[in-house]
Formats: sequence, structure tokens, C-alpha cells
Amino acid sequence: MLQTEILRVPSPIGHEAEIARAAALLRRGELVVFPTETVYGIGGNATDENAARAIYAAKGRPSDNPLIIHIARPEDAEPYAVTSETYYALAKTFMPGPLTVILPRKDTVPLSVTGGLETVAVRCPAHPVANALIAAAGVPIAAPSANRSGKPSPTCAAHVIEDLDGRVSMIIDGGECEFGLESTIIKLDGDEGTLLRPGAVTYDALCRICRRVQIAPAVLSMLAEGERPISPGMKYRHYAPNAALTLLDGDADRVLDYMLEQAKQPDTGFLCYDEECAHFPAGTPLFSLGPRNDLRVQSKRLFAALRLADGCPAIRKLYAHLPPKEGLGLALYNRILRAAAHQIRKI
Ligand code: TXA
Ligand code: MG
Repeated sequence: MLQTEILRVPSPIGHEAEIARAAALLRRGELVVFPTETVYGIGGNATDENAARAIYAAKGRPSDNPLIIHIARPEDAEPYAVTSETYYALAKTFMPGPLTVILPRKDTVPLSVTGGLETVAVRCPAHPVANALIAAAGVPIAAPSANRSGKPSPTCAAHVIEDLDGRVSMIIDGGECEFGLESTIIKLDGDEGTLLRPGAVTYDALCRICRRVQIAPAVLSMLAEGERPISPGMKYRHYAPNAALTLLDGDADRVLDYMLEQAKQPDTGFLCYDEECAHFPAGTPLFSLGPRNDLRVQSKRLFAALRLADGCPAIRKLYAHLPPKEGLGLALYNRILRAAAHQIRKI
């Protein structure tokens, strides 16, 4: 067990000493959890052979799953990745921000960090605390989401403390994450790209920069038996809630009627919308994702809602609306579809 130091750092301004201390820990090869605008990340020095091993030990899973390296400015990718005109075009529009770009690797990145791949994932986070920390560390920071294996990505420090207290040197509490879903991942090939993970930078936004963007099949559907995914992360068993989650596909009013019918069962909970809460009988386990038409709030609250539901052992079944696939909806759709192990019911 490590003695984990928990620091509240809402902004880098006025907290220069704490940031400098965290940066020194990272340079020494220790692990520091930090907030980003997407989810919290568990950071280690990406130029250190042992970083990936230490990170995966803390997360509680042996893994060859490659890590994203976090940099303070887009041009800081130069020593580690083979950049391109398209990379800089994407950077100009979306960095710093919730976008990860996969590029050919340079030898300066240990294979332990890239999971043995000849490519490397690069991301420049917009969160001011993350950005200041990476700049102060002076090295790129390898950082997967700061959850224990089998849990959703953490969107606030309480989730991180639940999962990693005693397993890392420091947790920086920067409050709630702005987006709540992990970054968009695009793999570049010349001026074309493949969307590996949808996020707050939408497919349409990427299409405005790249000549063509394909959506990797695993984003929308289940991988066939034996099929090799483009992103190694796709092959790992994903987070599944304790209760069996089913997504309801149909007209919103009919879905609500169906939910109200199911609410007669005492072991059933609902990921619903704010407007629907009052329709359920008192005492129904409800986890509202936000207003019906606000995909941003729904995305931000999804992982916290799933953690809350997991905290209620009496809930054996969960129902949620199937989100739309357009815009930010695609990211929400992708995460909730995986949590539901692709269980969709047409209503
Ligand atoms: O928003 C985020 O991206 C957060 C914050 C902390 O920055 N990080 C994050 O990391 O979500 P992680 O490790 O939980 O997810 C990274 C995903 C994995 O599914 C991994 O397989 C994929 O990125 N990945 C990383 N490097 C890759 C590569 N070279 N080729 C293909 N996929 C890669
Ligand atoms: Mg993760």
C-alpha cells in the first residue's frame, strides 16, 4: 500500500507548488492521477520503460493494451511520433482538446507503452491542470483512464479515490470532468483516417479536416468471433454493470411506457431523462442522465450513473434509451452499447 497524497487543485494558477511537486513525482517514475476534460487519467513518464508496467499494476490488470501519450503542445509530438500535414491540420482545430491521434512511432517511445505496436497515440489535453502538469513534467505522460479494471472511467476524484487510493503516489482532484467520456481516437493514414473511438470531437468535425474518415466496425457493432480489431482496446472485455443493461430502441413515449411497465418489478432500475422521473412510482431506482435533448449532459453523467447503479445490489436489471448515432450521440451510443453488451430491444 502506498500513502496516496490527495491534493485539491481546481486551477494551475495559485497552485504552482503542488503542480511542481506532482511533476517531480512523474519524472521520478511514480504515478500521479490527474483530471482531464474527458476523464481522469493515471499518469506515468512515457519515456520510462517501466511506466506502462506500473500503471497496469495499479489498474489491476496485466495488459499489452497500448497507452496514449499526453503532451502539452501539438508540436511536442515531434520527438516521439512521425507527424504529418493532416496531424497539424487536426491539431490546429482540435488541440488542446478531446482528440487522440494515432501516428507511426519513433524509437523514443518504449514498446511497453505502445503495447508492442509500431504506432503511438498522442493527445494534448485542454484541462488547464493537465496541461500545466505535463508542461512542468517536461516529459510526455502515458495515461489510461484512472479506473480499476472492470469499472467505468472516473469523471470525478471520488471515483478515483474509490478505485486507486493506496495504489498511486498522488491524486490531483480538479473537480468534475467537462465531457465525461474518453477522447475521440483517429488513426491517420496520409490525409485519411479511421475513427477508432467516438468522443466529443465528432465524426462530422473530423470529416471537415480529413479527406475521408472511415468508422471502424467495432464502434457500432460486435466484433465477429476471431476478428482482429484495429485498436487493441477493442478486444478487451469492457466494463459491464452488475445489473443486466438493456437498451430500448423506439419512440421516446413508447419507451417510457415500457419502462413504467417494467418498474413494477422491484429489482429493476432505469437510466432515464430528467423529464421522465416524475412519471415513475416513488421509490423506483432512477439514475437520470439529464434533459432528454441534452446529449452533452447525458454523456457527462453516464459513467457516474453506472457507478451509482453498481452501488445498489438489489438492482438486477437496468433499462436505458438507445441514444441517437449522430453528433455527440455516437460517443454515448458506443459506450452505452458496450456496457449493455449489445443488448437492444425494439419497442
Ligand atoms: O480521454 C482519454 O483518452 C483518456 C484520458 C485520460 O486522456 N485516456 C484513455 O486512455 O481513455 P485508455 O488507455 O483508457 O484508452 C486508450 C485507448 C485504448 O483502447 C487503446 O487500445 C487505444 O486507445 N490505443 C492506444 N494506442 C493505440 C495505438 N497505437 N493503436 C491503436 N489503438 C491505440
Ligand atoms: Mg480506459
